[in-house]
Amino acid sequence: MANFDEIIDRKNSYSLKHDFARERGKPEGLIPLWVADMDFRAPDAVVDALTAASKAGIFGYTVPKPDYYEVVRGWFSERYDYVFRDEHVITTPGIVYALAMSVRAFTEEGDAVLIQRPVYHPFSEVIDDNRRKLVNSPLVQEPDGKFRMDFTDFERKVREENVKLFILCSPHNPVGRVWTRAELEQIGDICVKYGVVVVTDEIHCDFTYPGYKHTSFTTVKESFEDIAITCTAPSKTFNFAGLQISNIIIKNQQLRRKFRKELDKSGYSQPALMGIVACKAAYEYGGPWLEELRAYLKGNLDFLRAFLKERIPQIKMTEPEGTYLVWLDFRTVASSVEDADDLITNRAGLWLSEGSSYGPEGIGFQRINMACPRSVLRQALEQLAVAVADRG
Ligand SMILES: Cc1ncc(COP(=O)(O)O)c(C=O)c1O
Repeated sequence: MANFDEIIDRKNSYSLKHDFARERGKPEGLIPLWVADMDFRAPDAVVDALTAASKAGIFGYTVPKPDYYEVVRGWFSERYDYVFRDEHVITTPGIVYALAMSVRAFTEEGDAVLIQRPVYHPFSEVIDDNRRKLVNSPLVQEPDGKFRMDFTDFERKVREENVKLFILCSPHNPVGRVWTRAELEQIGDICVKYGVVVVTDEIHCDFTYPGYKHTSFTTVKESFEDIAITCTAPSKTFNFAGLQISNIIIKNQQLRRKFRKELDKSGYSQPALMGIVACKAAYEYGGPWLEELRAYLKGNLDFLRAFLKERIPQIKMTEPEGTYLVWLDFRTVASSVEDADDLITNRAGLWLSEGSSYGPEGIGFQRINMACPRSVLRQALEQLAVAVADRG
């Protein structure tokens, strides 16, 4: 049994989450609940495989063999009915890297790339930094609190802006939606109709709450296979983002060739040994650990929901269907971005992700990463409750 209650001291481990407050303009001593990695140890099977590879003591160039692909394919076919062949898989040192490569491979400077804000901020960065035109079709929050896609706006923008590429976040960070098959079908049909390439970032696919099931975009319709770049990674699921391994699945040969050419141009060839070792061990043996983790995260979510309802009802929680990130509405407790920062950083002693970093649509919101021991989450929420109460 994994012990997710264990508090592991991550200080002085080069942890972005724990060791870089000063560099990021924050005071020391905050409880860090921001960047999306977890304060849990990876499964024993992963640690053991890495230890064995490390003990061997030789860390030469690495190329995955068929047994690696078999394990990757097994994970996706068993869980998501997503079937592909070895040659469809291209490793990259992370998904953001694959997003940037896709932008470069499938569009020219000045071309329009569509995203749905508020969304994970590197989506905007890879568009802007590569001098493409960012087109936003914002998600709409309905009265029931749920965020939905605006299909009419989406199609109009695709048509009018001559959109070439769409970056889909599925499940969605930060609003926590697990898109339904029907939603994916509707959006995919529009993309097929207008010849838009879809980069579907499915890094959070393994985190869904009871009652919700991730649907991989290309499994919705055969025609979607010809327009899709599916970005997957074991790194969120098993907590080894620092090992830099992701598996990009491209069924269409022409798209795959273009993508690979772009990787060649960037000088990337072989993946890092430890990433391959960890990925294989995780997908081969990590299933039971993941089930325990999902149950623990569900417990954290229940705790968070109940705490807010009872102690800080002014802060409204967007009920997530997936991911361990929760989108909180602070608009009734803070009047501006600066005010929210003062409340959260200076008074509550927390480090959350500021909503406006996901686009202007995120102003007034904060994202909390609740993948931490429950006692840490409880402490953080107690501090927040006191800070809010002190303001009267
Ligand atoms: C939607 C999404 N994509 C990609 C990433 C990061 O992927 P990588 O570390 O593989 O670049 C994250 C991390 O939070 C994410 O939320």
